[in-house]
Amino acid sequence: MNLSMSTTSSGIDPALVPRRRLYTGASMPAIGLGTFGSDRVSADEIAAAVRDAAALGYRHFDCASVYGNEHSIGFAFRDILRGGIKREELWVTSKLWNDKHAEADVIPSCRKSLADLQLDYLDMYLIHWPFPNFHPPGCDVTSRSAGARPYIHENYMKTWRQLEKVVDLGLVRHIGTSNMTIPKLEMLLRDARIKPAVNELEMHPHMQQPELFAFLKTHGIEPIAYSPIGSPGRPERDRTPEDTVDVEDPVIVKIAGRLGVHPAMVCVKWACQLGATPIPFSAKRRNYLANLQGVISAPLTAEDMRAIAGIDKNCRLIKGQVFLWKSDQGWEDLWDLDGVIKQ
Ligand SMILES: NC(=O)c1ccc[n+]([C@@H]2O[C@H](COP(=O)([O-])OP(=O)(O)OC[C@H]3O[C@@H](n4cnc5c(N)ncnc54)[C@H](OP(=O)(O)O)[C@@H]3O)[C@@H](O)[C@H]2O)c1
Repeated sequence: MNLSMSTTSSGIDPALVPRRRLYTGASMPAIGLGTFGSDRVSADEIAAAVRDAAALGYRHFDCASVYGNEHSIGFAFRDILRGGIKREELWVTSKLWNDKHAEADVIPSCRKSLADLQLDYLDMYLIHWPFPNFHPPGCDVTSRSAGARPYIHENYMKTWRQLEKVVDLGLVRHIGTSNMTIPKLEMLLRDARIKPAVNELEMHPHMQQPELFAFLKTHGIEPIAYSPIGSPGRPERDRTPEDTVDVEDPVIVKIAGRLGVHPAMVCVKWACQLGATPIPFSAKRRNYLANLQGVISAPLTAEDMRAIAGIDKNCRLIKGQVFLWKSDQGWEDLWDLDGVIKQ
């Protein structure tokens, strides 16, 4: 395919964007626009980016109530739909925040996201984290919410039953998980009436998570790669001295140099080519257009893919410290590293 014939600075034909088939038979665009502004990009700027990204060919948008901008993004969706794009062409995800896990809170929270987003239904609704623990906006990583608890499967299933109910009510087409581990997913798969269709996981060249990725694919759960560029703009509270920088990795920089693109685009291409659905964030037209172009342009070579497979550093950037439930814990306790769910 001649890329120059299908892409211009004014956009890309959405029909060219690869798609993922979910176990339900639904088809989801294999790249989405992230909408978390990391406390530095305003709700209005992100809404403007959503509006413009749709004009450029994006059809998949990753939202969440905790990002604090669904109300603004709703006006973008209103304009997109008024402009002639059909609702069924869009793929919109939202997420239940940690302070709304109680059975009575799930349906109202879902309805609130729908109202804010000005939509009649969501394509995907996720439980954002498997813990009901949350933190005040802008707190530091040592903050713990009162009543913070470990993962309690019985409680998670109570929340999941309400997600199943939002599907029954027609508010949501699919449900899924985020920040889960294999042991937690095994229990959910055992007990769910409606099985998760996707799982959002941190996934970039320095955090490839091959076991979790394979587990998801084996069980018909599509992996959504969050922070696919290694989240270079993440808030200070999510940074530690050990963190590595994907876009400065010599392997990524070399491939980007050969292709004449920014290293960020190589990360996005890699995730999509591997079979994940990356959801890179940017509110800058040059960058979100480049990311969309990245998934339809000529693929990385087998040698590139092998070289990137070799730079995995298992470097988790979104560690989730604020969701811990005791004061003397390390973030590793959230991630069941030895296959056992920590209590
Ligand atoms: N489920 C979860 O718990 C979870 C957790 C984290 C994130 N997410 C989702 O995943 C999305 C993406 O993750 P993220 O925002 O953490 O990180 P990311 O997408 O890995 O990185 C975003 C950063 O990369 C830069 N960038 C993007 N495209 C670029 C390009 N083509 N060239 C150069 N720089 C580029 C952006 O800079 P500029 O702003 O300067 O363009 C921005 O600072 C979020 O917005 C959110 O929707 C979900």
